[in-house]
Amino acid sequence: ANQRTLSIIKPDAVAKNAIGEITARFEKAGLQVVAAKMLKLDDDKAGGFYAEHKERPFFKDLVGFMTSGPVVVQVLEGDDAVAKNRDLMGATNPKEAAPGTIRADFAETIDANAVHGSDSPESAEREIAYFFTADEICPRG
Ligand code: CMP
Repeated sequence: ANQRTLSIIKPDAVAKNAIGEITARFEKAGLQVVAAKMLKLDDDKAGGFYAEHKERPFFKDLVGFMTSGPVVVQVLEGDDAVAKNRDLMGATNPKEAAPGTIRADFAETIDANAVHGSDSPESAEREIAYFFTADEICPRG
């Protein structure tokens, strides 16, 4: 079914000048970019986004990394977009990511892992609303 998912191109991938190559993978897989912006997150914005991980030991490092440089936040739309994006990204830990996935090709460590993607349609709805107002999303029709 047609779905939307939230993608974040993280500071490591932006620093590598890989915004275009990563976005091309989404587009080649049939996902459409229906919203996009570049942001420098602060502690509150990054911490709020990852609120579900607040008690995890890696939370502080995660927020530190996500605020270390600009990110590109996108809404991707297409058939089965949540799962399709997760397939394109590969495993969270780049050392476990399948060859040819974004994390295998662009990521170095579990923190600097190039991209984030929503893990379910419910998360996608919350995460999209966290970064975008309705009028910032531009369905292609
Ligand atoms: P992301 O999909 O953005 O969601 C949470 C992030 O926490 C994850 O990618 C990783 O970059 C980071 N992280 C760091 N350590 C861990 C861990 N042990 N398990 C899961 N995520 C981790």
